[in-house]
Amino acid sequence: MADKPKVLVTRRWPVAVEDKLKELYDVTLNETDVPMTADEMRQALMDYDAFCPTVSDKVDASVLDVSGARAKIIASYGVGYSHIDTEAARKAGFVVTNTPEVLSNCTADLAITLMLAAARRIGEGEREVRSGNWTGWRPTHMIGTRVSGGTFGVLGFGRIGREAARKAHFGFDMKVIYYDAFPVKPELAAETRAEARGSIEDVLREADVVSLHMPGGKDNYHLINEARLKLMKPTAILVNTARGEVVDAAALAAALQAGTIAGAGLDVYEGEPKVHPALLECENAVLLPHLGSATKSTRDDMGWRVLENLEAFFKGEAPRDRVA
Ligand code: DGY
Repeated sequence: MADKPKVLVTRRWPVAVEDKLKELYDVTLNETDVPMTADEMRQALMDYDAFCPTVSDKVDASVLDVSGARAKIIASYGVGYSHIDTEAARKAGFVVTNTPEVLSNCTADLAITLMLAAARRIGEGEREVRSGNWTGWRPTHMIGTRVSGGTFGVLGFGRIGREAARKAHFGFDMKVIYYDAFPVKPELAAETRAEARGSIEDVLREADVVSLHMPGGKDNYHLINEARLKLMKPTAILVNTARGEVVDAAALAAALQAGTIAGAGLDVYEGEPKVHPALLECENAVLLPHLGSATKSTRDDMGWRVLENLEAFFKGEAPRDRVA
């Protein structure tokens, strides 16, 4: 029998998925869960048939600059792939895959969670109760913003954006408006009676909640900047479950402190796990540690999707989630 392909996984994965990997492959797991260095990743590309990073591993051109790599596939765990220089990967002959679809629902749930948490001042309320500073009910206490019946603006109307729109529309009776740089099939917009707007600016001006769902990377770097934040309503909420670099964090913190917008719910940060210190000072920001897909079934399903991609690749077939 031919040797099993050698597979390297950069972080701890769900146990059931790790067990299956052990059964199918000659796999090296990362028992310590300590992130790998660029040198270690480069070496892995030399020593293994498949390299399986996650969204927190920076697989840039310098990592991919290896001659005589044994690996031919980079099967990433996660839907976003701006952590991989796909252009360099393509040039170097690597197949790159991701794990779309399986996490859309959970990530959209988290966008809605952040919308409500920011609008209803959940972080502030929690802090007040836990600190013992709560003095009791009163008509003027910690007044938030009603989102039900408002306008939900989606920037990036892909799978996760549409799922968030569905929850906002059917769960909270919100009108949906969106902008996407790519054409959206009318039947997809019709599901939530979503109305297209001609520009990001149009959505920012009109929405009560703006939810970001575009990919990260250089094309969308600081797309939400000082000038664009100024277009939003002073009562509006910004939600980011996409990628940290899409938002200029310093400009957002300034807007939150000045009352340019009412609040923000953030799950992702440029340079995470570091968070811009000014954001940490903003009472009206709800900050989560990149939990969009963090439910048991979703994290399992992301692993199964990597396995599906690896299986197809090693059978000589096209992996269904090829992105480069
Ligand atoms: C992804 O998959 O891109 C998320 O950010 C992590 O779940």
